[in-house]
Amino acid sequence: MRINDNFEKLPESYLFSTVAARLREFKEQNPGVEVIRMDIGDVTLPIPQAAVEAMHRAVEDMAASRTFHGYGPEQGYDFLRRAVAEGDYASRGVDIADNEIFISDGAKSDLGNLGDIFSVDSTVAVTDPGYPVYVDANVIDGRGGRLEDGRWSNFLYLECTAENGFKPVPPAAHADVIYLCSPANPTGTSFSRDELKAWVDYARRESALIIYDSAYCAYISDPAVPHSIYEIEGAKEVAIEVRSFSKTAGFTGLRCGYTVVPEVLKGSDGQGRKISLRKLWLRRQTTKFNGASYIIQRGAEALYTPEGLAQTKANVEYYLENAALIRMRMQDAGFLVFGGVDSPYVWVKSPNGENSWDLFARLLKEAHISCTPGSGFGSNGEGYIRLTGFNTRENTEKAMERLLAVSKNI
Ligand code: MLT
Repeated sequence: MRINDNFEKLPESYLFSTVAARLREFKEQNPGVEVIRMDIGDVTLPIPQAAVEAMHRAVEDMAASRTFHGYGPEQGYDFLRRAVAEGDYASRGVDIADNEIFISDGAKSDLGNLGDIFSVDSTVAVTDPGYPVYVDANVIDGRGGRLEDGRWSNFLYLECTAENGFKPVPPAAHADVIYLCSPANPTGTSFSRDELKAWVDYARRESALIIYDSAYCAYISDPAVPHSIYEIEGAKEVAIEVRSFSKTAGFTGLRCGYTVVPEVLKGSDGQGRKISLRKLWLRRQTTKFNGASYIIQRGAEALYTPEGLAQTKANVEYYLENAALIRMRMQDAGFLVFGGVDSPYVWVKSPNGENSWDLFARLLKEAHISCTPGSGFGSNGEGYIRLTGFNTRENTEKAMERLLAVSKNI
């Protein structure tokens, strides 16, 4: 058989796998050294008690024939779709129907899989820097073209630099599909209402689709920053929104997220007929996915109870305080930083022009801290690193002490 050649075009491993491999190698060579993980956005607090209790009850359901659940609906149980529609949308004045919500095993899977519903010929626009799944998944699907000087020939790159505050603006050129993330991974910056409206207007003008990654919306505290793209008029006709319980409620290991595909959102087929994307996504999910587990979905549902909401908020606030601490300490030491306000991520510029992977290696060797090299998120990330607020307070403080102790040499 012939393989999918697109895999051969990709860098050998996924960014976070490469970071993990470098860490394993360092630990093997330096046994006994305690490395503080400030790289991948993996949470450290336990999941909210309301979810724990709900999942215990769900295990008991599975143990009795009267309440046992086998295969569930591929698009998620009604109880969770209802809770999401009410808790995440109606509560913010946005009208999303239950059947426009598709529960999944996480935002990463959905962001990677959505390419199944649009044409392989589509021009894809991605931010540079951006979450690497957008790029890698589209390359695997065959939309990348050739890799030249670190960039794929068929993608439209949306430049995000210190000069524009790492916020992409709509391009003059046409794109069919645009991936946007706010608050953004990795830079931590977020769109104001007007900035997001400019994107919705662009997509309407160009008949383009926006895939809006809103995995970090729980970190927004500024009232001027929209939580959902659907807060912008007309967005339902142009946008799919993807969300996650990972970063809000510690579900990185449990796996649960959801994608909203509004009924009014349409694409065109080869004959120019308008086709419902919701129907295509339903068809895709029912074919290739058997639904998130009943137990996990019961856990996610409990996050919308008054106790669940309060416990989730407390977790998010804890990580935000970590991010604020990182931001403050790095700024005080003279580093140029972005993010860390409405986001768990702090994006830090290397002060002496050292490249991202060299700085990664030096922080690992000299401070025993792991970070994510900015260049792994795109060529505009070169010379930056990303630090995460997801570690414990104790480790975050320790990491900052270590980092600042070696910062004279950086
Ligand atoms: C990150 O560190 O960027 C994220 O944790 C990766 C992910 O959510 O897959």
